[in-house]
Amino acid sequence: MSLEVQSKELSSMNTLGLRSVAPTYVDYVDDEQLPELTDLVRQHDQTFVLGGGSNVVLPEQMPGLMVHVATRGIALVDETPRHWFIEAQAGENWHEFVRACLDQGWVGLENLALIPGTVGASPVQNIGAYGVELETRLEQVSAWDFHEGRLQVFSRDACNFAYRDSFFKRQPQGRWLITKVCFALPRQWEPRIDYPDLVGCRALEAKGLLQPQHVFDAVCEVRRNKLPDPAVLGNAGSFFKNPVVDAVQYQHIKAINPGLVAYEQADGTWKLAAGWLIDKAGWKGFRDGPVGVHDRQALVLVNYGGATADDIQALAGRICEDVFAKYGVALEQEPVRAGLT
Ligand code: EPU
Repeated sequence: MSLEVQSKELSSMNTLGLRSVAPTYVDYVDDEQLPELTDLVRQHDQTFVLGGGSNVVLPEQMPGLMVHVATRGIALVDETPRHWFIEAQAGENWHEFVRACLDQGWVGLENLALIPGTVGASPVQNIGAYGVELETRLEQVSAWDFHEGRLQVFSRDACNFAYRDSFFKRQPQGRWLITKVCFALPRQWEPRIDYPDLVGCRALEAKGLLQPQHVFDAVCEVRRNKLPDPAVLGNAGSFFKNPVVDAVQYQHIKAINPGLVAYEQADGTWKLAAGWLIDKAGWKGFRDGPVGVHDRQALVLVNYGGATADDIQALAGRICEDVFAKYGVALEQEPVRAGLT
């Protein structure tokens, strides 16, 4: 199918619901379009690749070309005694993919249920929730390089995964388009139910009754209780990463704030709960015109309707300054700011 270039209003294509227009927009629906797409990319100063729009801040006027990934397909491509290898096209909705795998008996992704976004975006920020990080289930990523005009396959190691970070997150916007992701799912199910909120699952496990579907349902319930549904209230999940500090700084902050929630890392550093810092700084439930801080999870910024990127970035900036002034900790934004070069 040949590419159709159009102008597109994007407020329903980003979960923050920000007002944004892309004057030059194309849907990418199959791999045969990649050579033509490469020509188009080379005619523009900049390109932005959009998946489910759940981890982006889109400007009111999108500069350059926007490529929306809309490919579909899920298949079992290989199996060994230990793993199922499942390949999904980048445009598949993440949650529907997790559900489809579970329906087929391909388990291991259930802790990642209900994360908004697409399969293709999942390795970019190495999504993670309730004790499972994507990198532990991923086999390889196929990505098209617009600079070289060719497909490249990245092993898990080559993806350079870290907490909410990867090789792809650090590349210039629009250089790579992830086309498909291959997952290695364990045939021997190992439930991950240590997370405090999964207490019901631990009770079932103790009775020998725990099934993957229980974990899936429990994770969906926790997320529905804690996190706003983007279909109802615009948001991009956690707006900041949990900052990591050294032991000296952790002890210092902890001495002044005994209630601080923090997790020791294998290397002796400490990951601080940014939601706790922002909450204790007094921001939870704060509202400024069309934007605000969610009243149940201070790490989530929300759009009450009609907000622009400038509104949300102004609020984020105020929170960062205040958290730095109060705790000496610099917060790092999680969603990508589209259109910045
Ligand atoms: N907390 C507060 N006040 C708040 C929010 C949180 O005191 O307003 C405290 C909580 O009581 C808890 C701690 O902070 O003790 C951590 O909160 P929570 O368990 O809700 O998790 P989180 O660190 O805020 C991370 C991920 C989420 C993921 C959850 C569950 C990041 C930046 N966020 O949130 O991922 O769903 O853990 O695993 O790592 C996302 O990245 O968009 C996302 C939603």
